[in-house]
Amino acid sequence: MSGPRVVLGVSGGIAAYKACELLRRLTESGHDVTVVPTAAALEFVGAPTWAALSGKPVSAEVWDGVHEVPHVRLGQTADLVVVAPATADLLAKAAHGLADDLLTNTLLTARCPVVLAPAMHTEMWEHAATAANVATLRSRGVLVIEPAEGRLTGADTGKGRLPDPEEIFEVARDVLARSGAGGAGRPGVGVHDLAGRQVVVSAGGTREYLDPVRFLGNRSSGRQGYALARAAASRGAEVTLIAANVDLTDPAGVKVVRVGSTAELRDAVLTATASADAVVMAAAPADFRPTEASEVKIKKADDGSAPSITLQQNPDILKEISTHRARPEAVIVGFAAETGDATGSVLDLARAKLARKGCDLLVVNDVSGGAVFGSTDNEAVILGSDGSAVDVPHGTKSALAHLIWDQVVTRLT
Ligand SMILES: Cc1cc2nc3c(=O)[nH]c(=O)nc-3n(C[C@H](O)[C@H](O)[C@H](O)COP(=O)(O)O)c2cc1C
Repeated sequence: MSGPRVVLGVSGGIAAYKACELLRRLTESGHDVTVVPTAAALEFVGAPTWAALSGKPVSAEVWDGVHEVPHVRLGQTADLVVVAPATADLLAKAAHGLADDLLTNTLLTARCPVVLAPAMHTEMWEHAATAANVATLRSRGVLVIEPAEGRLTGADTGKGRLPDPEEIFEVARDVLARSGAGGAGRPGVGVHDLAGRQVVVSAGGTREYLDPVRFLGNRSSGRQGYALARAAASRGAEVTLIAANVDLTDPAGVKVVRVGSTAELRDAVLTATASADAVVMAAAPADFRPTEASEVKIKKADDGSAPSITLQQNPDILKEISTHRARPEAVIVGFAAETGDATGSVLDLARAKLARKGCDLLVVNDVSGGAVFGSTDNEAVILGSDGSAVDVPHGTKSALAHLIWDQVVTRLT
């Protein structure tokens, strides 16, 4: 195999079985994966499963295949080490440099990016010892994904669940791409340049109800905002994602706040931006709402007539947070989905919009023909209030997300 070399570490948590799904995604997308379980992980999922799914021999010990010195070679030659699930015990060992099995030796010899996806009971996650270990690991540049909230091993629920394998996969792919080992790599870009920063991203499209069943909405899928949230988390930021009517898997390690209407979006954005270093408004808020919403379903008239709907303008959230800044040093980014018209080209209209809104950056999509909506790709121009313009050629929404964060990071520092 010639794809990026990934060591998939699995430690002894109940979520070890979910790493099988992560392994499948990694191998099916062309990664060369070596699974390194701990002895405890093998109590949950046996070596034959890992060997069959990865197509490689599996060992938890430093004593197997010693002539190839695996305790050093695996870490040295890896492009990425990802441990999922990472137990409280594994975090403690990694933070303190213990090396009593193949996985912990690999973590010490790895010079590539390391991603840890912890999973444990809430009490273990919140314990001061675990918190200190996580802080130590993060300070060394390890990407420790925040666990998800939800059902835990028993009947209890809380923070500590392993994020969806699909999302850990996206983080892994993202980190690989940024480190230059994932094909579309961009070497030299700081992997954790948003560490210690709080960022807010809005995504999706708001809905304004006419009656209990009908609404005015728009075609925003939320994919660009989700890509932005995921990218920021993988660069070390603490991310609040405000999602308006989005039907996508929550990105790993991101706090998701769900909203419906533009008024709800405004409330959530104003609350979250009070302490934010950067705000990216990728959501498409409805500009208008019905002046009155009927409490009962509006009936169809027998005479063929249709009701007339009076609309009123919604508040302009981007303009509000840009002109009345909660934190003057925060970087505020807007999006403009434009189509050119008789009054000007897409870029003319966007420059005027940037000035009108008062934000620092405006990401401009030409949406003539509706090509962008729901797609996994995008193409844009990032306009700066300082007159800059960065052309982003056709590519993934994830690639655009990183280029937007690059621009934000430049302005933050
Ligand atoms: C049924 C069961 C489930 C467990 N689940 C977890 C877990 O989700 N997270 C965790 O940190 N430890 C969990 N443990 C405890 C670990 O297995 C134990 O700390 C072990 O020493 C971890 O070893 P390792 O870090 O070398 O894999 C669990 C133990 C049992 C018996």
